[in-house]
Amino acid sequence: MTDAVDGFTPVLKVAEVPTGTMRLAALDRTRVLVAQVEGRFYAVSDICGHRNAPLSRGKLNGHIVECPLHFAQFDVRTGQYVDGPQSADVRRYEVRVENDMVYIRP
Ligand code: FES
Repeated sequence: MTDAVDGFTPVLKVAEVPTGTMRLAALDRTRVLVAQVEGRFYAVSDICGHRNAPLSRGKLNGHIVECPLHFAQFDVRTGQYVDGPQSADVRRYEVRVENDMVYIRP
C-alpha cells in the first residue's frame, strides 16, 4: 500500500467493503471499523465504548452497528452511542475514497 497523504492512510480496497458491510482495518496499531452504507464509507473505532468488545464482529443495520457482546449500538456516521448498555461514544475517523482505496485519518 502507498504512504499516507495529507494524514490519510490507505487501509482497505473499496471492493473489500461492499455496501451494507463492515470490515476491520488497522491504522498503525489501532483497530478501526470501516463500513459502507449506500455508497458512503465511514470509519469509527472498533473498540466498543462499553467494555471494549470488537464492534466489527457485531451487526451493521443501516448506519447502526451493534456490539456483539452486550448489544450497545453506535452510529457509524458519528461514533455516537445510540442505545443499549450505558456506553461512551466511539471515536470517528475521517474517510476519503480515491483510486479504489479507502483512506482514513484520525
Ligand atoms: S462490550 Fe459492547 S456492549 Fe458491552
